[in-house]
Amino acid sequence: MTHRPPLHTGRRRFLTASLATGGAMATAGLLPAAARAATPDPLITEVQPWASGFGDGVDAHPYGLPTEHEGDVIRRTVSWLTADTISSINFTPIHALDGTITPQGCAFERHHSGAIDLAKPDYRLMINGMVERPLVFTYDDLERFPRRTMTCFLECAANTGMEWAGAQLNGAQFTHGMIHNMEYTGVPLRLLLEEAGVKPEATWVMAEGADASSNARSFPIEKMLDDVLVAFKANGEALRKEHGYPVRLVVPGWEGNMWIKWLRRIEVADAPWESREETSKYTDTLANGTSRKWTWVMDAKSVVTSPSPQSPIRHGAGPLVITGLAWSGRGAIKQVDVTVDGGRTWQTARLEPQSNPLALHRFYLDHQWDGSDMLIQSRAMDATGYVQPTKDALRAIRGLNSVYHNNGIQTWLVKANGEAENVEIS
Ligand code: MTE
Ligand code: CO
Repeated sequence: MTHRPPLHTGRRRFLTASLATGGAMATAGLLPAAARAATPDPLITEVQPWASGFGDGVDAHPYGLPTEHEGDVIRRTVSWLTADTISSINFTPIHALDGTITPQGCAFERHHSGAIDLAKPDYRLMINGMVERPLVFTYDDLERFPRRTMTCFLECAANTGMEWAGAQLNGAQFTHGMIHNMEYTGVPLRLLLEEAGVKPEATWVMAEGADASSNARSFPIEKMLDDVLVAFKANGEALRKEHGYPVRLVVPGWEGNMWIKWLRRIEVADAPWESREETSKYTDTLANGTSRKWTWVMDAKSVVTSPSPQSPIRHGAGPLVITGLAWSGRGAIKQVDVTVDGGRTWQTARLEPQSNPLALHRFYLDHQWDGSDMLIQSRAMDATGYVQPTKDALRAIRGLNSVYHNNGIQTWLVKANGEAENVEIS
């Protein structure tokens, strides 16, 4: 599954061997560097092909792509889950990424009627309804408004949805990969609404995209006047086509289906667009047959991305970096605890500092692995004091009929050989 450059196998073997003999140093938290230097390693002692001639010139890649050695860090689909490739979903390879920013090229996609091609000169954004001045903006018009830049996560409400009934998909990419985290640049929607002049009796806003599905959604006007961005850049460059080029809505902390791509119209109203089938689509059916709806804010959640089924441990016992992601739509992540024994004991992980509370947070636990089986879990707590629930606690409240908003604690069984499996414990 993993692409390993053949030239590196010698070094890999050597590291494994030295770790096996260097137990004492490993428990001290250091790799046995002295032992490593004692064994002749051709990668150190011999001139390698890449040092014997010229590399690529600066004109080889006017726009660079990842090296071929990272060719398995790609979006993937699940064939039985999506009947066709157009109204479809793929998954971010979160098991292979680190830090917090998701590169656009491997950030998951969800389209209801395919990713459309829309050029900037053809772009229009209309604001109509309960406003003093109905307006149409071109792309150039949008660029003349004051801008903001902020990093936030987008999680599809269906993320982890296949796991309601039990452990199902074998990999963090598939169980938790309907998420990405980018630095967006755009115009606060509030400024455009002020330009149009929202009438005092307005309470709701409908937003829709230019694609055939339109993905129309209703929003309470307070959110639209708060932190919503009309974004045209992601991670410093133009949005990719599949993420809504040239303009998408960024709705911090709220479920992904509200983040309208190829944004083309904003209608201000005094009621939600309930007549539209789409507006009430993302509901959670409870055990008694009633539904939760308007569950827009994403609750605190976390997952260990490595080790995990697609990111097994490739070395022996000793120092092991356990890492993962945590996020909440209600505020910054304050603490992530990690267990390696199925919840009997917990350790508080290190959180990397974050600027925006509604962005992905990265956590690390620097662990000394004794080489035996582990049941690894992570548990996030956000600024409101809310603690990520177990899957059983979530099922006790929400039953088994839901698809959306599964933020239960994930368990990986990591075996002595380093391989990992998606399991559930109670
Ligand atoms: N916007 C439009 N216009 N059309 C769509 O199909 N899909 C929604 C949302 N916005 C959608 C859309 C859903 S369900 C999600 S989860 C996010 O876009 C996915 O955004 P991404 O493809 O950039 O990951
Ligand atoms: Co979605």
